[in-house]
Amino acid sequence: MQEQSCQASVDMSRIAAIAARYKDEPDQLMRILLEIQSCCGNSIPREAATIISSITGIPEAKIWGYITFYAMFSDKPRGKHIIRMCKSAPCHIVGAQAVAQAIGDYLGIAPGQTTEDGMFTLEYCECIGMCDTAPAIMINDSAYSGLTPESAVDLIKSFQQGGAE
Ligand code: FES
Repeated sequence: MQEQSCQASVDMSRIAAIAARYKDEPDQLMRILLEIQSCCGNSIPREAATIISSITGIPEAKIWGYITFYAMFSDKPRGKHIIRMCKSAPCHIVGAQAVAQAIGDYLGIAPGQTTEDGMFTLEYCECIGMCDTAPAIMINDSAYSGLTPESAVDLIKSFQQGGAE
């Protein structure tokens, strides 16, 4: 599937079109934000809250509350692939730090950073429900567990080669 992006020009009409589909469903704010983030290169432009609010009537403060509270959202540019390393205790005690270090060293970024080519963003997250096979990470919407530093780097390489998309 071809991924569409409105990040380059921050196409406000596309943001408005998404919000308009939920004009009478203000309880769908989470879905609205997910769709906008998906079309805008894994981040939500700052102008989006104003547009969503003007179309749906949802207060801007509430919209910003969602964007800043939920870790899945970001108003800062992020990579095409979001790598989320679980940092909760069960993963931590079986080597999550070493896995994150290996990924970061391989990509040349620290947690919270994005590679220069815009392909990967590395972040930490809380438990993703794979504790029994820790350590675990999410890449985009998929979970991977039982990782070692070596297997984690191999996994990243498979994304670089396009085989894991
Ligand atoms: S603690 Fe890492 S998946 Fe649950």
